[in-house]
Amino acid sequence: MRHPLVMGNWKLNGSRHMVNELIDGLRKEVSSVDGCDIAIAPPFIYLDQAKHQASGSRIMLGAQNVDINLSGAFTGETSANMLKDIGMKYVIIGHSERRTYHKESDELIAEKFAILKEAGLIPVLCIGETEAENEAGQTEAVCARQLDAVLKTMGAPAFENSVIAYEPVWAIGTGKSATPAQAQAVHKFIRDHIAKHDAKVAAQVIIQYGGSVNAGNAAELFSQPDIDGALVGGASLKADAFAVIVKAAAEAKKA
Ligand code: 13P
Repeated sequence: MRHPLVMGNWKLNGSRHMVNELIDGLRKEVSSVDGCDIAIAPPFIYLDQAKHQASGSRIMLGAQNVDINLSGAFTGETSANMLKDIGMKYVIIGHSERRTYHKESDELIAEKFAILKEAGLIPVLCIGETEAENEAGQTEAVCARQLDAVLKTMGAPAFENSVIAYEPVWAIGTGKSATPAQAQAVHKFIRDHIAKHDAKVAAQVIIQYGGSVNAGNAAELFSQPDIDGALVGGASLKADAFAVIVKAAAEAKKA
């Protein structure tokens, strides 16, 4: 039985004040929720503060990026071991915003995946097609290519205790979520693709949906058999909205 994971990707948002307020609010809202793992990924500079603010609660911490090097002359970077050192559990890699604005390739993202596994951190590997690719009927081909970069270098066991987030680029920040049926079809494709290599690993891997998830559409998305929670952007910046999404995931998987 897979345990859903709802994770808030704060992106480039936050302040010391917001970390305190948002985490305090969230702690109150989710303290009694059972059956769903909960994580937030604030910007690097607030991770340590957020970790302290969330201590003793069910809220886990994640980072939004990592470098492929562990130390040395790499100005401005943060290593997997540093993230482990300050108590991170998850690290988002391959987000479409990094693929687009920082020109991150499938190969670089696979290297990040490997370094996280080595450090004992859980990669949250984002994959998904652009609107043009979607319209050209390339959704499955794009997702397969992005998964294959990891499968080719590390094999299916890499996905043991890892997370995949299917985030169609056209649904991110647009208010236009994929329909539950659309998302389910791609999630099933992703699971089947991994199952071709290892059915056991495919059956346990968490596949989150991301892209305009909010308090209103979460429950229906989570009712789909292959949707194991969500990677939430905008709606994770409000404690009450994020809590509704967390509760919806916990409820859906109880049913
Ligand atoms: P929104 O929920 O704001 O659409 O962002 C989704 C996302 O990119 C999460 O990583």
